[in-house]
Amino acid sequence: MSKAQPANISHRGGRHWAPENTLVAFKMSLDLGVEGLELDVQRCASGELIVIHDELVNRTTNGVGLVQDITYDELKRLDAGSFWHDEYEDAGKVNFKGERVPLLKDVLDLVEGRAIVNVELKNTPIEYPGIEDDLLDLLSDYGHRDKIIVSSFDHKLMYKLKEKNAGLAIALLADALFVSVVDLAKQIGAEYWHPCFGSLRKEAVEEAKAAGLKVNAWTINTAREWSMAVDWELDGVITDAPHVFKSFLERRKSRAT
Ligand code: G3P
Ligand code: CA
Repeated sequence: MSKAQPANISHRGGRHWAPENTLVAFKMSLDLGVEGLELDVQRCASGELIVIHDELVNRTTNGVGLVQDITYDELKRLDAGSFWHDEYEDAGKVNFKGERVPLLKDVLDLVEGRAIVNVELKNTPIEYPGIEDDLLDLLSDYGHRDKIIVSSFDHKLMYKLKEKNAGLAIALLADALFVSVVDLAKQIGAEYWHPCFGSLRKEAVEEAKAAGLKVNAWTINTAREWSMAVDWELDGVITDAPHVFKSFLERRKSRAT
């Protein structure tokens, strides 16, 4: 019997085909038909939750400074698309100039339940006290809470979220080489485990799945690794290249039929 295909989850919206964590990347992912989007959240000076990976705007925009020191009024004027042309060799084919740093609310409004949204709360090295409450406030009237997975490397934050009984799915970001994933997931109340593929072994996946955890690994970008992900029966592949992964799965499926 052929193995189930892992869900296609675009990492930061798929940073190999569009500027990461922008609305255009998320739109492209939805148009492609991904099952999930992964994104990163920080909080700006005026209090809004912002979708951006780094605590600084320097790498992915034409601005300078810490997100926490910049108001949303200022942030929304920054260009979050132009950097991509310098970073990727085939970038000249598409012009993403003028893309903005989105609010988390903008992304949720765009997705509207069409895909799982993995909200990764960034809380290091900058700490955002109460960011879990900001997220809960934002999600209070979101109609697709069952399609949200929250994760953070800050496990204390995950405990706080679980204590609030928000009914949101939690993914444990942890490395099986250092901790007992199954025990930690139980303590935190996580339903998912999101390991780094580079430090993952098949046995750890089997153990986690036997304990009832769903396993979505990151960041898997090559055919060799995608084959391993299928063989290991990962539930999801978080990838920078959702378009290439989709073709890989289609080719594999057509060979099997
Ligand atoms: O959420 C998994 C993965 O995205 C964590 O690494 O640095 O890409 O946010 P990073
Ligand atoms: Ca992330």
